[in-house]
Amino acid sequence: MTLTEKTTGTFYGIGVGTGDPELLTVKAINALKKIDVLIAPKTEKKDDSVALSIAQPYLKSDAQIVYQTFPMVKDFADDNEVLAVFESNRDEILQLLRSGKDVGFATIGDPMFYSTYIYIFRLLKDSGVNVETIAGVPAFLAIASQIGRPLVFGNDIITIIPATANLDAINHALDNSDATVIMKVYKNFPEIVDALKSRNMLDDAVLVSRAGLDDEKIITDIAAHKDDSLNYLSTILTRRSHD
Ligand SMILES: C[S@@+](CC[C@H](N)C(=O)[O-])C[C@H]1O[C@@H](n2cnc3c(N)ncnc32)[C@H](O)[C@@H]1O
Repeated sequence: MTLTEKTTGTFYGIGVGTGDPELLTVKAINALKKIDVLIAPKTEKKDDSVALSIAQPYLKSDAQIVYQTFPMVKDFADDNEVLAVFESNRDEILQLLRSGKDVGFATIGDPMFYSTYIYIFRLLKDSGVNVETIAGVPAFLAIASQIGRPLVFGNDIITIIPATANLDAINHALDNSDATVIMKVYKNFPEIVDALKSRNMLDDAVLVSRAGLDDEKIITDIAAHKDDSLNYLSTILTRRSHD
């Protein structure tokens, strides 16, 4: 082990669940209690960090909070400007770690599931720092239990797809899965409603926005909301109609 590794703090990717303050794991709470710095990711669109508000009650009183803004991207491989933002955030984290601080990165739901954390995780991979990732309850599972809706059983097949995906891929998922979870429905919502309607799947679909948070919404008459502008934290659970 080199001298640098010995004095470098640990980087924790911490899944904090979707908002219910009781849906954090013991491991997540223990990590939040010991870190010196919490990275609170924000998107360009919104000022607040939901992940921070979930994590905050568990932090040490003198823990430092560092806000980092991340562009909403599919991948940064082909976009140098976006890559530069991620690298600058990565460098700030590295500086904190190399000053000996333990740094946490709070993630809504699970860190390895459609998360900004994945980009930072990949960028840190070869920098020789200690990284620990702590699983969290992903939104679609928190929602299913909360609203009392079994997702799949027996030999059922489930597909999880973002509404930002190609419409052909979404249609394929709806036609070939017993259940489909549609994430990120703040995008392309009217098209998703049409796709569900044409398959007679609206009656058995539910849209949940900001699950576990104070302003949570559970919408079962999805078609009536087709023209609404949805909150970023919105997910649809569907089941294939068998009639
Ligand atoms: C960037 S992904 C993050 C997924 C997260 N890592 C997880 O494990 O659920 C953002 C999407 O997750 C879903 N999501 C996250 N939190 C949610 C919540 N509280 N209520 C409903 N959907 C949520 C929405 O589909 C949202 O567009």
